[in-house]
Amino acid sequence: MNKVEIKPGVYWVGGIDWDIREFHGYVTPRGTTYNAYLIVDEKVVLVDTVKHHLFDEMLARIREVVDPARIDYIVSNHVEMDHSGSLPMMKAVAPNAKVITSVKGEKGLRRHFKRDMDYQVVQSGDRLGIGKRTLVFVHIPMVHWPDSMVTYVPEDRLLLPNDAFGQHIASHERFDDEVGWAVVREEAAKYYANIVMPYGEQVKKALAAVGGLDIDMIAPSHGIIWRRHIPDILAKYVKWADHQTEPRAMVVYDTMWGSTERMALKLYEGLVDAGVPATLWNLKTNHISDVMTELIRTEAVLIGSPTLNGQVLPTVAAFLTYIRGLKPRKRVGFAFGSYGWAGKSREDIETVMSELGWEMPVPGISINYVPDDPELDAVREAGRAIGQHIKR
Ligand code: FEO
Repeated sequence: MNKVEIKPGVYWVGGIDWDIREFHGYVTPRGTTYNAYLIVDEKVVLVDTVKHHLFDEMLARIREVVDPARIDYIVSNHVEMDHSGSLPMMKAVAPNAKVITSVKGEKGLRRHFKRDMDYQVVQSGDRLGIGKRTLVFVHIPMVHWPDSMVTYVPEDRLLLPNDAFGQHIASHERFDDEVGWAVVREEAAKYYANIVMPYGEQVKKALAAVGGLDIDMIAPSHGIIWRRHIPDILAKYVKWADHQTEPRAMVVYDTMWGSTERMALKLYEGLVDAGVPATLWNLKTNHISDVMTELIRTEAVLIGSPTLNGQVLPTVAAFLTYIRGLKPRKRVGFAFGSYGWAGKSREDIETVMSELGWEMPVPGISINYVPDDPELDAVREAGRAIGQHIKR
């Protein structure tokens, strides 16, 4: 099964989920991994487990290194079942292992498994000697659940931060330099945009907590391990946590009889007139989790829908619900769409933009049935005005 020794005496023993294409509403075309790490010292420690269906794969990798019955501690950095789903099965083959977790981790694990698993609760900053090494536990609540924590091994300059810095990539390669920055950056951005974005303030606290640590390897619980691009990914997290964007624009829409699509194309033309990089996203053909990967770096977000039964189209409603939850801040918004007899879509879109605190410097546009040439000129002019507004 091929465990991978990532540091002397520290092994990746996770599971590779080649087939997964949907992760609680997020499309994962590259699959993912659930990374577990085995540290062999005077004590033997397993940091995190894997989703339940990959338990045998993880166990085979552990057995390449030690008899699992020798494991003294299982660290559960995070309750969510992609990392703790194998915990009861792991306890069965490592009966003497204590399960190390945060206060909220213990509560969450008890709620999921309805049983005692010899828990040892740690506070943020607690240290545990395991021989030549020390494990330091730092709580990072809401990155990604209230229970989340990181495990740091100072002697190895190794950070095991669970979900933080993760990406959904299934690969034979284990390290960032083997896969390449372009792919890893894109998947890390998609992961942040779809999983971590609502918790920017907590990410800032987590970055402050780990910022002073001496680190030369970050081994998250999904995807590849960072060893070459650590400064790059830390810089990205600082930027994303602060909702910093680039002067780019994106037009996100759906259409019924083509009028809203004609408006979307004219807005795009206006943005290009202004010299701003722009992209078009039809919600019939693009998944909202892919739209978020672009939105994480984009300042101006133009959203369009016709009015159907007094509301936006269901695809646009889903997108609006998604961004209400993910809470991207510091954006410039613009709402548009066509209507037949009762225009409501623009108002619904602007309501969400207002809730998110987006600036709307150019008034939105609603057009009855089918736009004529002067109306399309006005739409193009609105695109140009938004482009000029964000151009720096
Ligand atoms: Fe990868 Fe929040 O679990």
